[in-house]
Amino acid sequence: MGVSVVVTSGKGGVGKSTVALGMGRALAQKGRRVLLVDCDAGLRSLDRMTGAEENLVFDIADAAFGRCAPAEAIYPCGGAEGLFLLPAPSSGEDRIRPAVMGKLVPLLKRYYDYVLLDSPAGLGEGFRSAACAADRALIVCSPDPVCVRNASAARELLEKLGIADRRLVINRFSGPFFHATGAYPDLDAVIDGAGARLFGVVPEDPLLAAAFLRGKGAPESSPARKALYRMAGRLEGEAVPIPDQL
Ligand SMILES: Nc1ncnc2c1ncn2[C@@H]1O[C@H](COP(=O)(O)OP(=O)(O)OP(=O)(O)O)[C@@H](O)[C@H]1O
Ligand SMILES: [Mg+2]
Repeated sequence: MGVSVVVTSGKGGVGKSTVALGMGRALAQKGRRVLLVDCDAGLRSLDRMTGAEENLVFDIADAAFGRCAPAEAIYPCGGAEGLFLLPAPSSGEDRIRPAVMGKLVPLLKRYYDYVLLDSPAGLGEGFRSAACAADRALIVCSPDPVCVRNASAARELLEKLGIADRRLVINRFSGPFFHATGAYPDLDAVIDGAGARLFGVVPEDPLLAAAFLRGKGAPESSPARKALYRMAGRLEGEAVPIPDQL
């Protein structure tokens, strides 16, 4: 039986899909079978970011409502052996309710080592659908006060949903920018503000962003790719320290 991990944030555009995909690629390269589930009905992005876009016929709504078998809505991600995508519907009308996800995710966990649930922005029903059947949660936030406040709100809701394992991912970290804004004295203050233990810090990295936007893997030299690989190791239970110099 696999593990389901929701990647969420509260605030939009902070890097949920980027973190989910980057960890998915890293886990697949470690030999795991990984399913990315795009839970962002109407605003899907992982189909393009995985390069699977052109092959799509069915999506998660088709699978959930019996219009196809679940396996027919799951697509291999080109160039990444072991990585698969269950795409979101292209229409917001077709969104999946928490009760349905509560049945679908346990089924998917039988066939994959990891089911990574990419949450939509916001803390409404889409958030609950993505999170309701998760064993663990990664809360993504950038180190700015608005995002940290939203991360804290997401953390409280995850707690109410009964997800005990909630960890923080600080994304788009840039040392000079962080210190120049003066919003926080250090990363410990960000962690305290979000109220969740730190899981990883992903640096701002145009190399990774550019590769993912083209549906490709990031080059090995990409600092964000390295950070995401370290996080994949932590998910596997390895003791991988966060380097002092990011
Ligand atoms: N570490 C990073 N370095 C540079 N750019 C990044 C990084 N992480 C994310 N981005 C960029 O930020 C933008 C938003 O990222 P992404 O789509 O992953 O966010 P999201 O939280 O999933 O958004 P949404 O809430 O709309 O689903 C994208 O253009 C992406 O390339
Ligand atoms: Mg997204």
